[in-house]
Amino acid sequence: MINIPLYLAPLAGYSDQAYRQLCKDWGVDYLVSEMVSADGLIRDQDKTQSYVSFSEKERPYGVQIFGSDPLILAKAAVALLPFKPDFIDINMGCPVRKVVKRGAGSALMKDPLRAAEIVREVKKAIENATTLTVKFRSGWDLNNLNYLDFGLRMQDAGADILCLHARTTSQVFSGQSNWEHIQKLKEALSIPLIGNGDIDSPETAAQMLKETSCDALMIGRGALGRPWLFSQIKQYLTEGYYQPVTKDKILSTSLKHLDYALLYKEEYVVVREMRSQLCHYAKGMPGSKELREKINHSSSVNELREHLRHWLLH
Ligand SMILES: Cc1cc2nc3c(=O)[nH]c(=O)nc-3n(C[C@H](O)[C@H](O)[C@H](O)COP(=O)(O)O)c2cc1C
Repeated sequence: MINIPLYLAPLAGYSDQAYRQLCKDWGVDYLVSEMVSADGLIRDQDKTQSYVSFSEKERPYGVQIFGSDPLILAKAAVALLPFKPDFIDINMGCPVRKVVKRGAGSALMKDPLRAAEIVREVKKAIENATTLTVKFRSGWDLNNLNYLDFGLRMQDAGADILCLHARTTSQVFSGQSNWEHIQKLKEALSIPLIGNGDIDSPETAAQMLKETSCDALMIGRGALGRPWLFSQIKQYLTEGYYQPVTKDKILSTSLKHLDYALLYKEEYVVVREMRSQLCHYAKGMPGSKELREKINHSSSVNELREHLRHWLLH
C-alpha cells in the first residue's frame, strides 16, 4: 500500500480556483496557484488579494511566484505571508519567451548563482514561516543538462522541497520527459523531490514512482478535463486497480466545474474561459469535434450545459 502525495501542477490559464476545488473533490493533496509575477505583487499590493485568493478548503495550498531579482522575490514572498500559504514556490522552469527575456522562469537555469541567491534571500526573508519549494527543468537544452548541480545548489541555498519537470527548456512540452533525471536527482538530494512530466494515467503514475523513487507526484495536462485521475491514481497505488470513469460521472463533473466557475466569475467570462476546459473533457472521445464546435459557439452557461448533456447522453 503506497500513500504518496499528489500535486496539481500550476497551469496558467487553467488551474484557477474552480478547477482547483474540483481537483480537491477528486482527491488531490496539494494545490498551487498559477504563476504570479513577483514584480506585480510588489507594485500593486491591492491586487495581491485577487492574485492569490484561495479558500481554506484548498489547503494545503501554495503560491507560485516568478521573477529575476532576489530582493524583489524576497519582498513578494513576505507580502504573501499574511495569507498564510502552506508553501511558496519559485518558478524556475517557465520557457515562455516573455518570462525568459526578463531573466525569470527557466532563464534562471542558465544562471545558477542568481537562482541560488534568490532562494537564499527568499528563505532569509520568510524564515520558517512557510515551506519554500522550487520548480525547475532538466536544463536549458540537451547539451546543458544541469539539473543535478542546479538541484543541489537550490538545496544548499535553503529550499525545503524541489520539483523537477524532466524536460529541457528548448523542448518546451514536446517529446518525452526523461524520468532518469528525476531518479538521479532523488538519489543525490537529502530534501524531498516531486516528480513531474507526462503522468497521464494511474499506470504511468505507478511507473514514475517505481523508476524514480520520488517523494511526491505532480500532474498537469493529464488531469485537464480528467480531475478524477487523482482518485484513480490513489486507488491504483493502494488497491492495485481503479474504477473507470462513467459517462454519468463525466457529465456531473463537467457540470460541477461550470457551477464552481460561476462562484468566482461573471457568466460571460465563464463562457469564454471554460471553452478550452470543457473541450478537454471530450478529448479523444466520440463526438468530441462536434461538441468542440458547439462549445466554441455557445453564449451562455445554459447552452454549455445543454451541449454537454446532449453529447454525453446521446
Ligand atoms: C497550459 C500550461 C500552463 C502552465 N503554467 C505553468 C505555470 O504557471 N507555472 C509552472 O511552473 N508550470 C506551468 N506549466 C508546466 C506544468 O506545471 C508542468 O510542469 C508541465 O505541464 C509538465 O507536467 P505534465 O506533463 O503533467 O503536464 C504549464 C503547463 C501548461 C501546459
